[in-house]
Order: sequence, then C-alpha cells, then structure tokens
Amino acid sequence: MAQLPILVAPDPRLAKKSLPVAEVDGEIRQLMDDMLETMYAAPGIGLAAPQVGVLKRVIVLDLAGDDEAPSPFKMANPEIIWVSDDDAEYNEGCLSVPEHYADVVRPASCVVRYLDENNVQREITAEGLLSTCVQHEIDHLDGVLFIDHLTSLKRNIILRKLVKAKKAGAGGVPA
Ligand code: NI
Repeated sequence: MAQLPILVAPDPRLAKKSLPVAEVDGEIRQLMDDMLETMYAAPGIGLAAPQVGVLKRVIVLDLAGDDEAPSPFKMANPEIIWVSDDDAEYNEGCLSVPEHYADVVRPASCVVRYLDENNVQREITAEGLLSTCVQHEIDHLDGVLFIDHLTSLKRNIILRKLVKAKKAGAGGVPA
C-alpha cells in the first residue's frame, strides 16, 4: 500500500468528469487500498480517485470513529439510484478544500448501486452522515466540489484563500 498526494483546489483535474472502470481488477483494488491508506492518514472519512489525480469512478469511505474497528466501503462506478424527498444539512469539509467548512443541503437518504472490491454489484441504503458523504464523493467523480453547492460569493471567498495558501506554500513557508 502507498499513500498518494491529495490535490488541493483550485486544480483543473478536480473539475473533470471521471470515467467508469470496466471491472474491478487487481489494479483497481490496489487503487482502492492506496486511497484508503491516504484517507486514514489525512485523516478523512471519504476520498474520491480524482482527488489523487486518477480520473476513474472509484471512491472509498469509512465513518467509523477513532475508538471503533475500521469499516471501509470501497466502491467502483457508484450510482445514486434513489433519493429521499426530505433533505438534510451538514457542515461539510473536503481534503481537497483544506480548513474550510460550509453547510450543504442534500437529500437526507439515498440508495447507491456500485461494484465492490470483488467486482460484485451491491446496493446500500445510506442515511445520515453516510448519505451526505457518499453524495459528496460521487460529486467528485463528476468534477463537483462541495463549494460548488454554495453561492458564488461564498465559493469565491474560499477559492481566493486557497490560492493565497498555495502561493504561501510555494514560497517555502512551512505549514
Ligand atoms: Ni471531498
């Protein structure tokens, strides 16, 4: 397993649409494991392949708390096939939008169809934080960040700060 560098917005690769995988083979399984290792180290609760520069429809999630056993989801070609009428609002963050958080409204629950790490098709009903997180990660596969759900005013404030932070980093200022 290997940790992969995480892209930070603004980055054109984060705005691209990712391609479906033909099947979950050894290469995709390795990608899933590397993404999980990267996510745990960050630490985060979800990661999508484009965040590590791989434009494939692969996401990983793990909502287990610090004192709980890991319970990772590894998903290829995840598709939302049903959403609830009722919405939920969560204060979202993203490893590609470091240190910024904002409230985003999404369907409160959803059903997701995906291929697991053994190339077996599965469906799960996601509620609560899992519903929010899986929708956030699938957004990444379509080039959408949580800040794209905000008003352009709020989004631009965050993007300007990210550009400034990148410039500071490039100048050799330790962070
Ligand atoms: Ni994210």
